[in-house]
Amino acid sequence: MTGPGIAGSPTPRLFRDGDEESLLSLIGLAFSRWPAVELSVEPMDHLRWKLRRDAQPPSQHTVVEIDSCLVGAENTWEHVFKAKERRLRVFRTCDSCVHPDYRKRGIYQLAYDFTMKTIAPEMDVHLTASQVRAIIRVAERSGRRRPIANVMQVLVRRLALKTSFGERGLEGDWALSTALLRAGVYIAGSSLKLAHSRPWGAAKPGWTLVPTSRFDERIDTFFDDAASAFDFIGLRTMDYMNWRYGDIRAGDFRITTAEEGGRILGFSVLALSHGRAKIADLLALPGRLDVAASLLGDAIRYAHAARAASIDCWLPRRHPYRSLLRREGFLRTANRPHFFERIGGADEDVAFLDDPSAAIHFTLGDSDLV
Ligand SMILES: CC(C)(COP(=O)(O)OP(=O)(O)OC[C@H]1O[C@@H](n2cnc3c(N)ncnc32)[C@H](O)[C@@H]1OP(=O)(O)O)[C@@H](O)C(=O)NCCC(=O)NCCS
Repeated sequence: MTGPGIAGSPTPRLFRDGDEESLLSLIGLAFSRWPAVELSVEPMDHLRWKLRRDAQPPSQHTVVEIDSCLVGAENTWEHVFKAKERRLRVFRTCDSCVHPDYRKRGIYQLAYDFTMKTIAPEMDVHLTASQVRAIIRVAERSGRRRPIANVMQVLVRRLALKTSFGERGLEGDWALSTALLRAGVYIAGSSLKLAHSRPWGAAKPGWTLVPTSRFDERIDTFFDDAASAFDFIGLRTMDYMNWRYGDIRAGDFRITTAEEGGRILGFSVLALSHGRAKIADLLALPGRLDVAASLLGDAIRYAHAARAASIDCWLPRRHPYRSLLRREGFLRTANRPHFFERIGGADEDVAFLDDPSAAIHFTLGDSDLV
């Protein structure tokens, strides 16, 4: 390896406590906007939150150094998923980056190979969704990664023509306009259906929407029931949920639970970031589309009141809540294909992901994009 300023050879190793400052400055140089989500804490606090070094065991990440300087990194984002009857350790690689002066010299490939050799053997499944060409090129090399057939889609409902946040408007406006034209007739039709399904004077729901900042142990019971409707779903345990959404270092999330007689029937998590509202998660008990609909309606009203330009949601193409989103005027603006790779273990455990109608619950909050 040659080039200005390069003396030694790049060496990958595991992230160590004490690397945080160097890692943050590398990330700052590599990404135009990091983190993706708008925060009220310092980026260092967010990084510490994300690295999960206080977990037991601490999460592992890869860095690449040259002469003791960090020039490359790849963080991991681990989550236990229910995959039919099994529990699988699923990990995504995130914040993959190389110092701008050292790109296209194989450093990312080095980081990736190290991650796969050193960290991946502890895991069961690797998920990737990057749309960056270099990342795709490297991830495809194993020849083992396959698309999750029930493809992830980006659904957007436009709320206001102008955002009050003074930022640029909607990204991908052209896609939205096309989708709007496509869906005009559908919305008109479904509005009529909606008018029939919710007659004036219908009884008020028996549950209450409760704003909260943390999840309590009731979420575990709720999740055990809610998960039964899905073959592939990340565990929404109390500890996980409070790390993911109840920690201010992760973001300012608006959490709402739907409760009846002290029991949780569903919840939603909403984020407001860069002028847009994002549904980080939405989940209700099996068959309780009425509860999911009320949580969704509440999220839309909140986003409207906050003068967000749009409200975004990610869901697999086939998902019980798709009809609710369409009724509420959400339109698909893009696909976000996800790929999986079985690490060791039997491929049959995840073979159902090849089925386009696999029952998958996967939302924006399962990624680090919110
Ligand atoms: C993406 C990134 C990490 C790649 O790092 P890198 O060290 O330059 O990548 P490598 O040199 O290991 O290249 C890996 C492969 O991708 C190819 N590649 C690298 N940059 C590329 C580019 N801009 N476009 C297309 N292919 C590219 C390389 O040619 C190589 O393929 P090859 O071995 O078949 O030739 C780096 O460009 C970066 O930090 N980008 C900004 C941060 C970012 O967007 N991260 C992705 C987050 S999902």
